[in-house]
Amino acid sequence: MGVDRFSVAGTGEGRFFILFDSPKWLSAGNKVFFPMIEQIVILDFGSQYTQVIARRIRECNVYSVILRYDTPAAEIEKLHPKGIILSGGPSSVYSKDAPLPDQAIFDLGKPMLGICYGLQLMAQFLGGSVEQGQKREYGKGTLQVKEASSPLFAGLPATLQIWNSHGDKLTRLPKGFKSVAVSENSDFAAIGHSGRKMYGLQFHPEVAHTPQGREIISNFVHTICGCGKNWTMRNYVDIAVEQIREQVGKEKVILGLSGGVDSSVAAALIHKAVGDQLTCIFVNNGVLRDREADTVREVFGRHFQMKLQYEDSKKIFLDRLKGVTDPERKRKIIGRTFIEVFQAATKRAGKARFLAQGTLYPDVIESVPIAGNPAAMIKSHHNVGGLPKKMKFSLVEPLKCLFKDEVRELGVELGLPREMVYRQPFPGPGLAVRILGEVTPSRLTILRGADSIVVEEMKNSGFYYKIWQSFAVLLPIRSVGVMGDERTYDFTIAIRAVESQDGMTADWVKLPYELMEKLSSRIINEVKGVNRVCFDITSKPPGTIEWE
Ligand code: XMP
Repeated sequence: MGVDRFSVAGTGEGRFFILFDSPKWLSAGNKVFFPMIEQIVILDFGSQYTQVIARRIRECNVYSVILRYDTPAAEIEKLHPKGIILSGGPSSVYSKDAPLPDQAIFDLGKPMLGICYGLQLMAQFLGGSVEQGQKREYGKGTLQVKEASSPLFAGLPATLQIWNSHGDKLTRLPKGFKSVAVSENSDFAAIGHSGRKMYGLQFHPEVAHTPQGREIISNFVHTICGCGKNWTMRNYVDIAVEQIREQVGKEKVILGLSGGVDSSVAAALIHKAVGDQLTCIFVNNGVLRDREADTVREVFGRHFQMKLQYEDSKKIFLDRLKGVTDPERKRKIIGRTFIEVFQAATKRAGKARFLAQGTLYPDVIESVPIAGNPAAMIKSHHNVGGLPKKMKFSLVEPLKCLFKDEVRELGVELGLPREMVYRQPFPGPGLAVRILGEVTPSRLTILRGADSIVVEEMKNSGFYYKIWQSFAVLLPIRSVGVMGDERTYDFTIAIRAVESQDGMTADWVKLPYELMEKLSSRIINEVKGVNRVCFDITSKPPGTIEWE
């Protein structure tokens, strides 16, 4: 196919740069593109569901990339996409600051699917009309498929449950388009121009509330765009290994291993690619859970035989945390001390040119700054900043085109234990944000005991892998109790169990009473220093997940 050496700047704001890297992958800013892989390009017009569209496509074993809505058509073409999706978005196509695509995308001859705002854009560009609807259509609806022969609805029943979220509606079809399906509120709930392979959906096929949306997306990518099923984590291992080898050459790579999913999978992948050129540094910061350090050493050191540099820095962290009760200060101390310890450790590891990081795709997708787009504001507030700039490393980030669920699959593919790959999130500042007030060795011992019981019982009951997080919090206030014939005056453990998609909002989980009873009695009987157990019934918002 021959991708020539090129370096092109695009978009009005000059933020989209494609720089040549190799015939097989391109990097643009901090993103990686694979023009050799069959893929679907999604133009993001600011919908909160854009990433969901990308994930649904990948679940169909087709690679997808998200680009800004105004990416020039010439740039898009360089990726040789098999199809283009125009996402939804909060704007109105007729408003003066509506985000508009490069008009030339409609002449690329690629199959296209417009979703919601995307449908309206496509229709408007191609000569149809869009008007403000009489009433906003939001929530569940029913779709009646009119054109049973439409490939978009192949294999699906004539009546489907769908999810709507739009105010404007299409009132006149562009030339050559037909109405393929109708809903209660619209004669043009799905439209299509089969000759040009252009389709539009007024509803959202990507959300779970459109139960057969996956089939619609699969029909688009497989039947209409003609994509195969090449995007699998097994295939990705080969692509990534080759890419890492090419990037790293004979140089050394350092990776900060936390035992969390992302750094663990990155370590396994890079190790597969460059073996002993990789050194993993594991810092024991003194606020880890029971056996956490042992597990990392067993899995990476003994099983994978990686070069693992274990930094036992418990003392320095705990010394600095002595007497500190303010949650922000605790976090800062842990963050700064980590950088210090890690920097010193990298020096001991020997001269390395590369630093590996487990950056994921959602961290590098540029959010579209459109007013009213909640996704634009949802940026992780944790662990931002990273290591100081003066640490002069080039970055190796082999997960930065992957979503979290793909990273997990990749981890399994690479032979990491399932418990590691599917474990619940654990905050960087560790148990320090789960002990209110001062962090002391004796309090850590109590919390570790309670935490182990929570993890064990949540696993036994099957809840551990079904929910976002479940853990114990130590409240260092004493209350009176009685145990046997003795009065006790001990601490309280709060149990938090939450369901969440991304940690930004969360609901508390209604655990069965029998499980709560077991947790409570085991913690009080087995953990010395605790005589009361509470269950946290606060959602986020207004509560946060961690108590700090
Ligand atoms: P909050 O407590 O803000 O937590 O509702 C949201 C999610 O983020 C995790 N969390 C952290 N993760 N470093 C991390 O890596 C941190 O400092 C940190 N603080 C909170 C928390 O466990 C939850 O999943």
